[in-house]
Amino acid sequence: MSRYEEIDFAALPVRRLNPLQMPSHAGFRPRRGEFGTYWKQGKIARECTASICACWYLDVDGVLAAYITLISDRLLVESPLLEAEKVRYRSFPAIKIGLLAADQRAKGAGTALMKWAFRYIACELCPRVGARFVTVDALFDPDNDYDVAGYYEKFGFVFADPSGVPREGEQFRTMFFDLKPLLDALDT
Ligand SMILES: CC(C)(COP(=O)(O)OP(=O)(O)OC[C@H]1O[C@@H](n2cnc3c(N)ncnc32)[C@H](O)[C@@H]1OP(=O)(O)O)[C@@H](O)C(=O)NCCC(=O)NCCS
Repeated sequence: MSRYEEIDFAALPVRRLNPLQMPSHAGFRPRRGEFGTYWKQGKIARECTASICACWYLDVDGVLAAYITLISDRLLVESPLLEAEKVRYRSFPAIKIGLLAADQRAKGAGTALMKWAFRYIACELCPRVGARFVTVDALFDPDNDYDVAGYYEKFGFVFADPSGVPREGEQFRTMFFDLKPLLDALDT
């Protein structure tokens, strides 16, 4: 039986990564191998130490099950998204989901981190700094039959470029989520 069976990931504590005290990554196997490599080869720890990102994770008995990184970002769009609110910019402050990965056997661990991130951003970050959107560069790798956009769509993310066509040479499509309804709901 896998160590992840019958685990309610939504009930586990989300821990902030301390690069000096990493959890074990023994057997950590996300669906895309590079996301395991980023962790194992120290990229995430280095970037946390350099304040390039902040990382949180879920573990089961001290072993990594899933991780997420958050980064400050700027959402660029063609049309003035907030025209109805008389805000006419095409560039908006945002928080980006930099990396997100879950062990393939830890079903729902990524979703638990996504839900935690929405709450964290809305309750802890937005009251302190302007950030209207959550962004993500959704991995798109048709050569290997991999497209994660549908996953983010389920949370309500939409493509920044409505055509959904990646830019030349890019293996991702930028998506965004408008935090306003969530912020309004928290306000009431
Ligand atoms: C994306 C990822 C973190 C999701 O982890 P998770 O939330 O634990 O995923 P689960 O396997 O429990 O799936 C949750 C739901 O999302 C759906 N889903 C998973 N990957 C999907 C995809 N690529 N497109 C559409 N839906 C997807 C599942 O079918 C499931 O749907 P259901 O709740 O209706 O059954 C994980 O698949 C992963 O690590 N992928 C490799 C790394 C990656 O692509 N990261 C994102 C880069 S931008």
